[in-house]
Amino acid sequence: MNVEMERSVSVWMSSGPVLEAPLLRSDERADVAVVGAGIAGLSAAYELMRAGRSVVVIDRGHIGGGMSSRTTGHLASALDDYYHQLIARSGIEAARRHYAAHAAAIDRIEQIARHEGIACDFARLDGYLFLAPGHDESLLHREIEACERIGYNGVRWVEHAPVPGVETGRALQFPDQARFHPRKYLAGLAHAILRDGGRIYANTPVTGFHETETGVVLTAGHNHRIHAGNVVVATNSPVNDRVAVHTKQAPYRTYAIAGPVEAGSVPDALVWDTLDAYHYVRLHPMGDGMDMLIVGGNDHKTGEAQDMGDRFADLEAWTRRHYPQLGSVDYRWSGQVMEPVDYLPFTGRNHGNHRIFIHTGDSGQGLTNGVAGAMILRDLIIGHENSWAEVTDPQRISLTAAGEFLKENLDAATHWAEHLTGGEVGSTNDIPPGQGAILRDGLKKLAIFRDESGTLHVRSAACSHAGCVVHWNPFERCWDCPCHGSHFAVDGSVLNGPAITPLAHADYQE
Ligand code: FES
Repeated sequence: MNVEMERSVSVWMSSGPVLEAPLLRSDERADVAVVGAGIAGLSAAYELMRAGRSVVVIDRGHIGGGMSSRTTGHLASALDDYYHQLIARSGIEAARRHYAAHAAAIDRIEQIARHEGIACDFARLDGYLFLAPGHDESLLHREIEACERIGYNGVRWVEHAPVPGVETGRALQFPDQARFHPRKYLAGLAHAILRDGGRIYANTPVTGFHETETGVVLTAGHNHRIHAGNVVVATNSPVNDRVAVHTKQAPYRTYAIAGPVEAGSVPDALVWDTLDAYHYVRLHPMGDGMDMLIVGGNDHKTGEAQDMGDRFADLEAWTRRHYPQLGSVDYRWSGQVMEPVDYLPFTGRNHGNHRIFIHTGDSGQGLTNGVAGAMILRDLIIGHENSWAEVTDPQRISLTAAGEFLKENLDAATHWAEHLTGGEVGSTNDIPPGQGAILRDGLKKLAIFRDESGTLHVRSAACSHAGCVVHWNPFERCWDCPCHGSHFAVDGSVLNGPAITPLAHADYQE
């Protein structure tokens, strides 16, 4: 099981192939074992195989069925956190390298799609950043200056962003952005890996990591062992780590809607505004004279909101104002992004390990960060220099992000302290069918879901990763952990890491 089992369905999940892969049924050996079959994991497997390494990939769910399928498929080298802010926090050299990594990632996807013949609707197009109402144009000035300083050539002023319903005023245009169908691309990548002798196992959660002098032994599936020289952990939030990297990033839920527009009625471009959380827009070609308009936004910290209905209504209203061509809204879905304290991903050797490497902290640009991360990890594992690796080192210390670091960890401490507070409901009678709530039972807190038949599903509310109290997500109908991004099904099964074990069983007598 993974986040594919959450209730919403993205436009990619309904229109892209699912690559069937077997369960792991015996022990395996490989040069590299990759945990996670999303964009970062499959890209790392592909790159390592091109470099002559044997590879085994495992995933707790379907191949390509995790958070990569819950994105909107933007491929941007423009930075949603802004390069001027990255320069202020991490310096110009870090910003220069980070831009180069994003640009190279888009090139690499284009190159692989062409070389492997993957029909994934890849297209190059421009990106546009326009001001939200009341925002000061100085932000755009700072950003275009930052782009010039880091060598991002071709960014320029335009009189309007291509948004049909409103007058956006002056905007920035970013060349050489792209879009694709993430699930089609991942299926193509997986086929190429299998064709070249890679092994891929689905529905095979990892349950243990043991590093030795010469390699790593993974325990996965039904207690099988994978012996590998090195391990890449490419799960949305790393499943091998209890603390280190998790204190330096925070999980956020983001929302997206999609609906048909007549082909040609909306310009084919990537578009963002300057709100925080910002709106992000693209088209997806559907054929038969129709495109799908896809709009995302209205993010919040995972587990800290239950007003998803209002968020979707707001997102739709914003979309209809800016894109009056939108017909029905056929898709509504959510995903999770990990926000690092200094805007840079964590890609490299895991803290305290020699042979375990991680990729996380995608900061809402996981498709490009994941592909760039795969190239970094390939180079680290085969012993090649990589100039981007220094800025993404998971063990880095960013003093300029100390305030953000403290804030995120205070937030996490608050969620641990919830064990001391009252429940959300005083009795299970207060939980309607199809909903969940936290109930205090003596010293314990319980996560209780009532299904449509009235049956209660009772689990401990203590997240099995590090003990924070989980929160009910009424839209996806699952339990979300606000501390580091674990999600659990109503029966307690893990849907998203870093947790690897289910919510504990609990008894409750009414
Ligand atoms: Fe770390 Fe829940 S994800 S405590």
